This record gives sequence, structure tokens and C-alpha cells, in this order.
Amino acid sequence: MNTKVIAGNWKMNNLQADTTATLTQLIPLVADATATVIVCVPYTNLATALQVVKGTNVHVGAQNCHWAEKGAFTGEIAPSMLKEMGVEYVIVGHSERRTYFGETNQTVLARTKAALNAGLKPIVCIGETLEQRNGGTMEQVLTEQIQQGFAEITAEQMANVIVAYEPVWAIGTGVTATNEQANDAIAFCRSVFESMYGSDTAASLCIQYGGSMNDKNAKELLSMPHIDGGLVGGASLVAEKFATIVNAIK
Ligand code: PGA
Repeated sequence: MNTKVIAGNWKMNNLQADTTATLTQLIPLVADATATVIVCVPYTNLATALQVVKGTNVHVGAQNCHWAEKGAFTGEIAPSMLKEMGVEYVIVGHSERRTYFGETNQTVLARTKAALNAGLKPIVCIGETLEQRNGGTMEQVLTEQIQQGFAEITAEQMANVIVAYEPVWAIGTGVTATNEQANDAIAFCRSVFESMYGSDTAASLCIQYGGSMNDKNAKELLSMPHIDGGLVGGASLVAEKFATIVNAIK
């Protein structure tokens, strides 16, 4: 069985004092977790978060990184800059970045490659819109996101990759995919990865579910055979709620 991974995506929330307070509250609540616990915080909170979680089982991630090692990219952050700080994980290709910041499968691939080359573990997000699901193109969209977004990633590199299946219609809406919808979509994604990398890599790949996962629905979602963890937005901002999700895996 894969080690399950619960990652919090704080998005553009929390100042320094909130970061310290939330993590200080979270740490004892998840000290006995069997899942890997990650909090992905805004760039400006990374140093604080790294300091607070030092010596604990809570890992720190960023929410994006650039594809170049350095250069004239005003406002961007290179993977090596994150690595140097001690950051271990980075979210790549979140649907909000695809929607608001022009992220494509090609830029997702470039950022994922750069993150891996710098020694970071990317959490690569994929997922269909409601229009695509209702229009019958969900499988095609997921297949393209995977085939294009992972085109140059080797099977060996996949050992350091986490995938988050996040149906866009479930993100921040309070509408969660049913256990079966989430499990079936992840099973489908796994079959696409299998066609690219073979059954061993596909079976050991951690594929999370994300989209309105909370302290009430996490246990059932996480008990589904194909769901290897969660990428949690809103509920990750509240230490007790996030801890309940982490501790739903025991
Ligand atoms: P949500 O966000 O849990 O608030 O729906 C999930 C995500 O965007 O990763």
C-alpha cells in the first residue's frame, strides 16, 4: 500500500502570526500521523513555516515555481531558491493557476521538470471542469493533461511525483465529488499513467483527491482503494479540521 499523503494548500491566506499560530496548533495534533503531512504556504511564509515545523513530522511546500533556473523573469521564484531554503514540495499546475494565470499542460510540464531537477517533489494537479464532465470529455481532458503534462518525465522521476486529481467544480465550492466519482476518476488517471510508465510505477504512484475535502467527508474518501491522500484547501486553514483529515488515515 502507498503511504498516504495529506497536503494543505493555504493558497493566498495567512500572515506570519497566523502561520506560526496555525502550525503551532497543528504540530501536536498530527504528531502520531501515519500519513505524510505537508503544508503548502505562500512564499512569504515559507521561512516562518520551516522554522516552526523544524524537528517535527510536518513538511513544507510552496504553491508554484518557475521553469527556468534563473534569469529575467520578474516576480518569479526558481525551484533552486525553494530548495535552498529547505522546502521539500511544490504544487504545480493548480486549477487556479490554469484558470487565472495562463498555465497550460506545457508550462506544467516545464515547471514539473524544473522542480524535479532541483530536487523538489512536485504535487502536480489535474482535473476536469463541470462542463467537460457533463459534456462527456472528462476522460479526454484527463488523458491530455497527463500525456502532455508528464511527456518528458521518466518512470524513475515519477517516484518523486505526487499527483492531485482535483475536479475544478469541487474546488472551493463545498461540492465534493462522491466517493465513487473521485475513486473512478483516479482509477482512470492511474490507467493512463500505467499506459505511459507500466503497472509498477502506476500502482505505487500517490494520487490524491482534492476539492472540498473536509473533516466530515475525509474518512470515507480516504478509505476508497484508489485515493492515496488529499490536497486540502479551505479546511487546511483550521488546524483542528486539517488534523482530523490527517488522522482519518490510521
Ligand atoms: P478546497 O481546495 O479544499 O478549498 O476545495 C482544494 C484545492 O484547491 O487544492
